[in-house]
Amino acid sequence: MSISSSSLITGESSNRSDPIVSISGITKSYQTGPIRLEVLKGVDLEVASGEWVAILGPSGSGKSTLLNILGLLDRPDSGSYIINGTSVTDLNDNQRAQARNRDIGFIFQRFNLLPRVSALHNVETPLIYRSMSRSERHERAAAALDAVGLSDRVTHDPSELSGGQIQRVAIARALVTNPTLLLADEPTGNLDAKSGREVMELFKTLPQEGRTIIMITHDSDIAALAHRQLKLNDGRLERLDIG
Ligand SMILES: Nc1ncnc2c1ncn2[C@@H]1O[C@H](COP(=O)(O)OP(=O)(O)OP(=O)(O)O)[C@@H](O)[C@H]1O
Ligand SMILES: [Mg+2]
Repeated sequence: MSISSSSLITGESSNRSDPIVSISGITKSYQTGPIRLEVLKGVDLEVASGEWVAILGPSGSGKSTLLNILGLLDRPDSGSYIINGTSVTDLNDNQRAQARNRDIGFIFQRFNLLPRVSALHNVETPLIYRSMSRSERHERAAAALDAVGLSDRVTHDPSELSGGQIQRVAIARALVTNPTLLLADEPTGNLDAKSGREVMELFKTLPQEGRTIIMITHDSDIAALAHRQLKLNDGRLERLDIG
């Protein structure tokens, strides 16, 4: 918990280099018929390298919306975003896809695995966009599955896996590219307590490997494992003071 005492939403992180993530004034609204819903009303966030941040907030508060923007899957209406020293605000779709593939691993709220194909193929998918031989892809995908404890399930497709195992395949897929930034939308939301703990044991090792994590969760026990807890409230991020 060393970081939580020094770094604030404004990013006053001590003894650390430039932030991996720096967003400022992010807004996003949705227009559905005559109704305009302002979901994000000016979100600021800086996350240091190797930091693990948990974001909480009620259902519908905009957590996935924010994570999709951070993951370059969606664009904000306004605001700036610098990832790993590169401003991505003005990149075109192609450049954004490249930045996403290079820097970001994403664990979706609904897993988004390919059905009817093996765990190994699911995990190697992000590597297909890189110049890498098939055998090297397989090697890396197998190693990623091994790291999440699934080396005996590489040939299974999602319909042949448990919920916890599917989630671990999704984590292996997010990590197989060695991303700087791991974004996780409720990574334990669909897991039983034991599988959830296993996934969190895995997460705990990631900051030590230099990976930065932004994780959404509804579970305060899980959030407490992170270095810093923030809450999305009325379209803005605020520090969650514990205790
Ligand atoms: N494409 C869209 N068009 C219109 N409204 C949307 C769209 N996507 C999300 N919303 C609305 O924006 C709000 C925020 O949605 P979001 O998915 O970010 O919430 P969340 O905090 O992740 O919720 P949960 O905890 O239930 O996953 C919700 O009220 C949702 O209905
Ligand atoms: Mg959500």
